[in-house]
Amino acid sequence: MINQYINDNKDRFVNELLDMLRIPSVSADPKFKADVMRNAEFLKERLIEAGADNVELVETAGNPVVYGEKMVDPSLPTVLVYGHYDVQPADPYELWTSPPFEPVIKDGKIYARGACDDKGQMYMHVKAFETMVKTGTLACNVRFMIEGEEEVGSVNLGAFVREHKDRLTGDVILISDTGMLANDTPSITTGLRGLSYLEVEVTGPNRDLHSGLYGGAVANPINILCQMIASLHDENNRITIPGFYDNVDELSQEERAEMARAPFDLDKYKKALDLGDVHGEEGYVTMERNSIRPTLDVNGIWGGYTGEGAKTVIPSKAYAKISMRLVPHQTSEEITEKFKKHFESIAPKSVKVVVKPHHGGEPVVTPTDSPAYQAASMAYEETFGVKPIPVRSGGSIPIVAMFKSELGLDSVLMGFGLDSDAIHSPNESYGLFNYMKGIETIPQFYKYFAQLKK
Ligand code: BES
Ligand code: MN
Ligand code: MN
Repeated sequence: MINQYINDNKDRFVNELLDMLRIPSVSADPKFKADVMRNAEFLKERLIEAGADNVELVETAGNPVVYGEKMVDPSLPTVLVYGHYDVQPADPYELWTSPPFEPVIKDGKIYARGACDDKGQMYMHVKAFETMVKTGTLACNVRFMIEGEEEVGSVNLGAFVREHKDRLTGDVILISDTGMLANDTPSITTGLRGLSYLEVEVTGPNRDLHSGLYGGAVANPINILCQMIASLHDENNRITIPGFYDNVDELSQEERAEMARAPFDLDKYKKALDLGDVHGEEGYVTMERNSIRPTLDVNGIWGGYTGEGAKTVIPSKAYAKISMRLVPHQTSEEITEKFKKHFESIAPKSVKVVVKPHHGGEPVVTPTDSPAYQAASMAYEETFGVKPIPVRSGGSIPIVAMFKSELGLDSVLMGFGLDSDAIHSPNESYGLFNYMKGIETIPQFYKYFAQLKK
């Protein structure tokens, strides 16, 4: 019955997603504020049509949270669905094969900003919910909370969660905002890294100078910044900030051996990214480097003259945006503080350094022995024909740790995206296979979760 309904409504399910993908709900850029609001309204209408009750846009200090619920029976378990309707900026536009907010379907994939992250994945939940409501198979109570600021650090969602604690009761948080290994190798994400994001400003002379008249005699803040940044990793690619690894949860040999059983093809990985070789912390393999190990990366660096032709100048200022991905049991506050202290301490007297923290988030590991994980595992097995593999991811969803600390709830990360979906990159895509498989798999989760919670 469920699959019949999904099949009968497939074209509409896809077209509704395409309609939402036409809304450029970029949260990072105030220019798109009206579109962000339009997306929230759009989602509100679709939730009402799908059969949700008490649907509303809940105000926050930033973009509204789209809330809706269906409480079928207080004796049933309650699933809280989280997702986000905001997207990353689409820049650089010229690298897109088709415009980012004019979705097209090509070779079985939808191409658009947000196709996978997270509009495609989030909307699977709306359509799975509609399917369960319309076929009378909804086995759990549901609350939706879809936010509009995930891509800018969910800075106002903590307050939303605290303010609406009484309303946000339930048994588990269900999220599709991660990936899986491959279409024939489903996986469930069991961990996310935390994040410390900050900006540094290095000031040399109080004004831009002629690089001939002053060159060699004063500090060039770009040269100095580069030296400082280079010194943050040693020859083994370990981070040199004192105490950085103090609280890092080291996995046992057994846990690492277990991880190594997930299929991974290094040659394919290099080929997909056009790399001569991979790079990372000595003593760890690629799959560990990008999931269970903490990192430090420069996300952007600027200063001086970058226009046409040449200008001979020693700039007054240089800047960089730096992020650190964190693992249990590092905390964002601790690492931000350690970075700041260290970075200030290595600055030579010839420059002034300011470190400005941006936003952060805590790492999480989710249990694999819970009814919710079991239900998710059974759901994938039912629709994919194979048992999903638990995999820790390197990405971050800051609110997941907060759901645990504020609401006491674990999350289940049922992602259906692939690395090749190119989230945050030009030509982001999402497979129609993945979209439809998600809509099929989610109702199975509800079914098994209700059974296991009895
Ligand atoms: N959905 C991603 C996170 C993700 C993607 C986790 C794939 C695991 C697998 C999310 O939208 C995201 O991009 N998060 C940001 C953090 C945020 C604070 C900007 C990230 O990980 O950079
Ligand atoms: Mn996302
Ligand atoms: Mn994202």
